[in-house]
Amino acid sequence: MKTFIFLTILLQIFVLQQVRTNECELTSNDNIQLTANEFIQSRQLCNILNLPTTNKRQISITGRLMDYTTRCQKSISNANVEIIRIRLNHRSVCSNIYHSNSDGYFNLTNLIIDFNEEVFLRLTAPSYKTIYKKIHFPLSYDQSVEMILNWKIVLSKDIKQSQSQDDQRMKSIVDTLLSEMTLDEKIGQLNLEGVGFNADGPVITNEQRERIRRGEIGAVLNIFTPQAIRQLQELAINSSRLKVPFIFGFDVIHGHKTIFPIPLALSATWNMTLIEQSARIAAREATADALNWVFSPMVDIAHDPRWGRILEGAGEDPYLGSQVAAAMVRGYQGSNISDVDTVMACFKHFGLYGAAEAGRDYNTVDMSPLRMYEFYLPPYRAAVEAGAGSVMTSFNEINGVPSTANQWLLTDLLRNQWNFTGFVVTDATAMYELIPHGLGNLQEVSARSLNAGVDLDMGSQGFLSTLNQSVQQGKVSEQTIEQACRRVLEAKYKLGLLDDPFHYVNESRAHTDIFTKENRLAARDFARRSFVLLKNDKQILPLARSNLTITLVGPLADDRRNLLGAWSGAGDWTQAVSVLDGINQLIGNNIQVLHVKGANLLEDPDMLKLLNAYGGDIILDNRTATQMIDEALQAAQKSDVIVAVVGETQGMTGEAASRADIGLPVCQQLLLQALFNTNKPVVIVLMNGRPMTLTWEDQHATAILETWFAGTETGNAIAEVLFGYYNPAGKLTATFPRSVGQIPLYYNHKNTGRPFNSSDFLNRYKSRYLDISNDPLYPFGYGLSYTSFSFGPLNADKTQLHGDSDRLTIRFVLSNNGAYDGEEVVQLYIGDPVASVTRAVRELKNFQKVFLQARERQEISFIITTDDLKFFDSSLNYIWEEGLFNIYIGPDSVNTQSVQINWFKL
Ligand code: BGC
Repeated sequence: MKTFIFLTILLQIFVLQQVRTNECELTSNDNIQLTANEFIQSRQLCNILNLPTTNKRQISITGRLMDYTTRCQKSISNANVEIIRIRLNHRSVCSNIYHSNSDGYFNLTNLIIDFNEEVFLRLTAPSYKTIYKKIHFPLSYDQSVEMILNWKIVLSKDIKQSQSQDDQRMKSIVDTLLSEMTLDEKIGQLNLEGVGFNADGPVITNEQRERIRRGEIGAVLNIFTPQAIRQLQELAINSSRLKVPFIFGFDVIHGHKTIFPIPLALSATWNMTLIEQSARIAAREATADALNWVFSPMVDIAHDPRWGRILEGAGEDPYLGSQVAAAMVRGYQGSNISDVDTVMACFKHFGLYGAAEAGRDYNTVDMSPLRMYEFYLPPYRAAVEAGAGSVMTSFNEINGVPSTANQWLLTDLLRNQWNFTGFVVTDATAMYELIPHGLGNLQEVSARSLNAGVDLDMGSQGFLSTLNQSVQQGKVSEQTIEQACRRVLEAKYKLGLLDDPFHYVNESRAHTDIFTKENRLAARDFARRSFVLLKNDKQILPLARSNLTITLVGPLADDRRNLLGAWSGAGDWTQAVSVLDGINQLIGNNIQVLHVKGANLLEDPDMLKLLNAYGGDIILDNRTATQMIDEALQAAQKSDVIVAVVGETQGMTGEAASRADIGLPVCQQLLLQALFNTNKPVVIVLMNGRPMTLTWEDQHATAILETWFAGTETGNAIAEVLFGYYNPAGKLTATFPRSVGQIPLYYNHKNTGRPFNSSDFLNRYKSRYLDISNDPLYPFGYGLSYTSFSFGPLNADKTQLHGDSDRLTIRFVLSNNGAYDGEEVVQLYIGDPVASVTRAVRELKNFQKVFLQARERQEISFIITTDDLKFFDSSLNYIWEEGLFNIYIGPDSVNTQSVQINWFKL
């Protein structure tokens, strides 16, 4: 019955949307690149496969390959279309290869595929990135099926290949420029300066004007708008001898003018397409403001929520962090960094900045090489591999040598081991700060930084003021200066600035591409997807959309000042949507909203003074705390549910915002205490930039929704989630501790020789606390949904595996048992209980974000290869060792099922 079922698969290989007239816009969602050459040897295996004659299906695949990367679409001829078949339960792979014709069409008919095979399509064409994609067949084969796979696949230009064609031109242009430059002009290119601006244009000192004339500034930061940048670029071109244009950089961290959720929140979406898109939109807005370089992504792994900058990164996990790093770089740089709507990325802070001792910003970092390689370095490396054009050093020292002068870090590791070819910029005044670090005077530290591998000095003017003298004294060589200058000029070439200094200056784009309706819609979508439902007793959420009275209370309920987070350079908080406005706009006509403030944001006088000295804008209410709480209680008595919007102020997070106590401010806790005493259900809506200690709040609140600092569209997104227009699906990417005393607390910790097991409570001599559990309040990967998912039993295709090319498939059925459609992040962790060095108890190795309609079930499968088993041994070789492995799968890092396997070398 099941023999020779006919399936026709029509692959429509094109992009559906043309967003702008006469311009072909890419949709990169399904653009998957092949990352390994694992199938290269496969072809000869095809013939020796001895397939049984039953259980086969016959398929036809047709499609057309188009290039949409150019203004006028064209067909791609002579591409290889490869069908790759992997036989499950056998360690065999085979493939058949076909070619597209001169119009790009291909037509593969009568392919015989075994039921027991997984089928992949691989498309390769000279100068294009390879695409590799799995073909999913319907589970039932009872009848002949015609499937149309409406894939939007784009074969996009291979950056590396087109670059290599350009390399020679770049070399000759840069060589010519260098041959005309004096030593001082070369040094001038290594100087990055901050410049002010206003509506009339740049605001520069006479000294700066002179430096520009002498060619002593290579790049500029903190200025944007086409008008201001045109004027400054004109000054560089018209007044300097060699007319070398500036690069214009800015801290575009989570959106330029349309502000998205803070990066820690974006990472909680576990959605790389979304994260890439957020960077893509940010790049479009930034370039519409004439910028061409962004100081992002920040990819520092952090285990310590006291550190205020934890908000700028993707949390604690190196695997997830690496994916986010690469997605951001792809989003910013696109497929061609010289396109007018792409920017050069600058990943930061290299390196290990997130491991500052005691979570105190700028503090010392001291770390074993193993920990460094295993947990902290991978995201930086991922950014390099994604092609980031530049990297920023960090403020901290690493094992005795500050990173800004660290030759091992900036040259041996970054350039020699990782093959980084972009340029290295210091963090702001980081070179100058080497003096208090104890490395010598400005001349010494500048020479040392250059020799270590720094190319561009941000804000110290150490290169400018000392390098010439250091050449004369033999402390640095002219070649080293020339090499750094070459890297800066190469970046200018790649950005298209050496061909057209005004490449990014376009006065009309600023009106059409910035803060658009589409971008705000994207911001709203990203925001709601970043929220994490931490608690939802009695399914209090979502709230009813009619016949409901809510008390909306809390100092952040009607706030806009804090919504953009600590760092939104060009963002305008007055344009942000408050929670009160969001709820009123969405549902205000159908329910009754009683809004009261309830408490001040903060009352600690010293912190208030400090935050307000840096634009905190925290204004204390005229009333006493008791008066405000009384008002809140009166409203609460009249309502069915209390929604309390509480949290940190934006200034309590970010750079130079470490906190020793990471709980809610006391005045807000007092408000919550009074609200809990009413016995009405209390829904806490949290705004904050770090994991907080919420043990008491968790005990008493009915629900807690973590909304971070969600950006421009905060209020709209929160309203949609509270009233069930969107079912929250975010998962934490940083552990929430129960108490500050547990920090650092992270899921991928070591076992120790005396691991504590809570079922053996009276066993004292274990690695534990006397006064608190070891467990976090909310673990890494945790987050609830309005629906409920269940994971069926794990089914591994084998438990004994052999050799490098074996692969393990684990399948299970994921069911949405609830009444809401929703998404689950299915997480796969691996533990390696016996190895030559101690390993983390488990490590994230894969995940899938799966959407299921209410009552829907889906089979999920993961393929595990020996790459997933690899780690750094004590000599820092990246290897895998044979033996026992535990594979854990579940909705977070704790609630998992597991299978145990043995994987042997032979
Ligand atoms: C920060 C960087 C930032 C730079 C330029 C520094 O204080 O550490 O992240 O990119 O300033 O604004």
